[in-house]
Amino acid sequence: PLLDPVPSLPALYTSVGFSILAFLATIYLVPALGPSFVKAGLTGGDLLKPPESQGLVCASIYIMLLMLFIPFAFSNFILNFGGTSSHPEGISVPQFPHYQLSVYLSSLLSLLIATMLGFLDDVFDIRWRHKLPIPVIASIPLLMVYYAERGNTHVVVPLPLRFLLGTLLNLGPLYYLYMSLLSTFATNSINILAGINGSEVSQALIIALSVIINDLLYLPWPVDFRVPLHLLGGKAELEFGGVWSAGMAHGSRELVERHLFSLYFMMPLVAVCTGFLYHNWYPARAFPGDTLCYVTGMAFAVVGIQAHFSKTLLLFFLPQIFNFILSCPQLFGLVPCPRHRVPRYDADTNMLYPSECELFVPGDTTKTSKRKLGALALKTLARLGLTELTVHPTTGEVQKATNLTILNVFLVRLGPMSEKRLVQVLMCTQVAGSVVAFVVRYGLAGLVYDG
Ligand code: UD1
Ligand code: MG
Repeated sequence: PLLDPVPSLPALYTSVGFSILAFLATIYLVPALGPSFVKAGLTGGDLLKPPESQGLVCASIYIMLLMLFIPFAFSNFILNFGGTSSHPEGISVPQFPHYQLSVYLSSLLSLLIATMLGFLDDVFDIRWRHKLPIPVIASIPLLMVYYAERGNTHVVVPLPLRFLLGTLLNLGPLYYLYMSLLSTFATNSINILAGINGSEVSQALIIALSVIINDLLYLPWPVDFRVPLHLLGGKAELEFGGVWSAGMAHGSRELVERHLFSLYFMMPLVAVCTGFLYHNWYPARAFPGDTLCYVTGMAFAVVGIQAHFSKTLLLFFLPQIFNFILSCPQLFGLVPCPRHRVPRYDADTNMLYPSECELFVPGDTTKTSKRKLGALALKTLARLGLTELTVHPTTGEVQKATNLTILNVFLVRLGPMSEKRLVQVLMCTQVAGSVVAFVVRYGLAGLVYDG
């Protein structure tokens, strides 16, 4: 028998304390270090030229505090060490949880690589096709640890498909491929939904808060507030075997430990994001750069993989998934993709308008087949109201289209608005996405899966 049936909650309180420190450090250090970034030539924006890539400050504070926290994460064990003799019944003390230490360390490794990649991207503007595989490689430590623990690679087949595939489907290596792509997606999807004050950091903040709420559902609370979820037909029990990931036949202790781990990584992230948002809110005095996008994205991939809730995590990325799918014609070269797709700023009205890309400009070497496919995609999207086209009056050829990003869709649908307004719309969408995610995860999943 184990000495302590419930993992150490005191470490959780320490983590809250560390997070407050992270918040204060971000609030203070971002403006204090601004001049150093300007001196190094790292400036962004157009008029005021505030320092760019200050996500590096956030990432440094975040990773430093996570390192300082390591002994506390294992305080439960450290305090009980050698406790065999002190325990009246001589119950054996559990082995040091090396596995959890490797989970923690491999996570830090991935975060460090993401920070490095982000900062290099800020300084050198790495080409798209070069930076895509790097998060995949950065995720190998995570996948190895997942493998070492014989992590689940089964998915539960939805009820309507069971006659074909059975109840459980083992994806095997494909599941590892999926997890490594998840890290690429998480790191890049925030970066391509960016460019207006507060956008990057507010997305990260709302996703992190959603993950925290989800984690809290799995902690051993004295009062069972999961009951209301149950009434909705939900499945949020502590012994919850996984609506999607069966195979999770471990006890609830392991489930609690995993979600504690996720909290240890998410609470300081919320803290640095809140601190940074204070400086990045319109009109921004500091810009996050790619560094913040990559490090926050990797942090989500890390907790999703290591705490085994990657599918729930993806549900918190609904706006990013939408933005990615919408962007595909431009990302894959069917439609020209200008270096920047952010909305166009009009200084006279102080408003943002959808930005446009031009098609069939002289000297364009895109293959005709690709162009035709691109034009077809644009016309379909225009019919769905997701882009606005300028067509040639006689030939009917598409000449211009608004860039395929969710920010431009907001401007096309809701009309021009101020930068502050646009980021507020984005934040509301992100929150709405999280609400949908919780309903799907704990409400609707019961209809498609019998748990
Ligand atoms: C990605 C997008 C690009 C978008 C850019 C905006 C794709 C494929 N790439 O490129 O379309 O224009 O992000 O971030 O979708 N900035 C501001 N205000 C802010 C934040 C950033 O003006 O609040 C400026 C920065 O100063 C910088 C630029 O936006 O000049 C961001 O550039 P960078 O992060 O290098 O762009 P990418 O991530 O490569
Ligand atoms: Mg960027």
